[in-house]
Amino acid sequence: MSIALHAFEEDRAPAGRLAALLDTPLSLVQTHTFPDGESLPCVPKAMPTTLVYRSLDRPNAKLVELLLAADAWRRIGVHRLVLVAPYLPYMRQDKVFSEGEPVSQRVVAGLLDSAFDRIVTVDPHLHRTKSLASLFNHAECTVVRGGDALIPFLRSSPFAAGSLIVGPDAESEQWARYVAEGLGLRHGVLAKQRRGDRDVVLSVPPGLEVHGAPVLLVDDICSTGATLAAAIRTLKAAGAKTIAVFVTHGLWTDAAIGDLRSAGADWIAASDSCNQPAEEVGLAKVLAAALRNEI
Ligand code: R5P
Repeated sequence: MSIALHAFEEDRAPAGRLAALLDTPLSLVQTHTFPDGESLPCVPKAMPTTLVYRSLDRPNAKLVELLLAADAWRRIGVHRLVLVAPYLPYMRQDKVFSEGEPVSQRVVAGLLDSAFDRIVTVDPHLHRTKSLASLFNHAECTVVRGGDALIPFLRSSPFAAGSLIVGPDAESEQWARYVAEGLGLRHGVLAKQRRGDRDVVLSVPPGLEVHGAPVLLVDDICSTGATLAAAIRTLKAAGAKTIAVFVTHGLWTDAAIGDLRSAGADWIAASDSCNQPAEEVGLAKVLAAALRNEI
């Protein structure tokens, strides 16, 4: 065995699937929480190259624990520390939208850059930032596409045949196009106007023929579900026959899944990046492929 794979308890299942494909045992970090809320992670025996699986949805406490653990791994002699974080948080705040705000994307990338030699993640939400690597001075970056897990899944499911692939807004065009090209289907995006965290208005642009089509909505993130619920209602009103939904990262805050169902979603799925309750499209295979060179 030339590498170690470590994870935190909440990622035991997806990290275990990755460990099986890499043919490496999985060891768990034990975390003690003091009465005042401080965390004390204790890392297991490591190897000079150690892979750490921690998806960073609901990120605040997880990030602090991860950085503390990174210090511990270095102290026991880890030379190459590779973070496998299928969901990378704070990427959406890529500029100061209102005076007084931070550029959170750069702050969080800087913290991870100081602790890890390589970051492997899936579909980071990069809008104005052109590449993930541009946020890191030291760590190498590998971006895995959620679509590479979704495309083979859809080939053997009833949701792809003849579908129109739709992204709910301009930023999702890249994800919708990738899946559509992989499956040889047509795609388009809706026009979106965001009026608040939970308030978006969508419309079907001229030229996008929705009437009578089975639609697969594709996006990178679902948080409150406001965007996708509005997209489903808009597509239904435009005559979509059925609506299936896939997001790479199902954060599912508030009552997102229920809201998507009430809006009329026939099928809802997400990758297993956030350990949340929707039908899962596993990322283990595509992550293992990206990590083969570490073995
Ligand atoms: C926006 O650019 C993203 O791709 C998502 O559409 C958005 O972040 C989803 O958020 P929510 O589910 O809260 O509408």
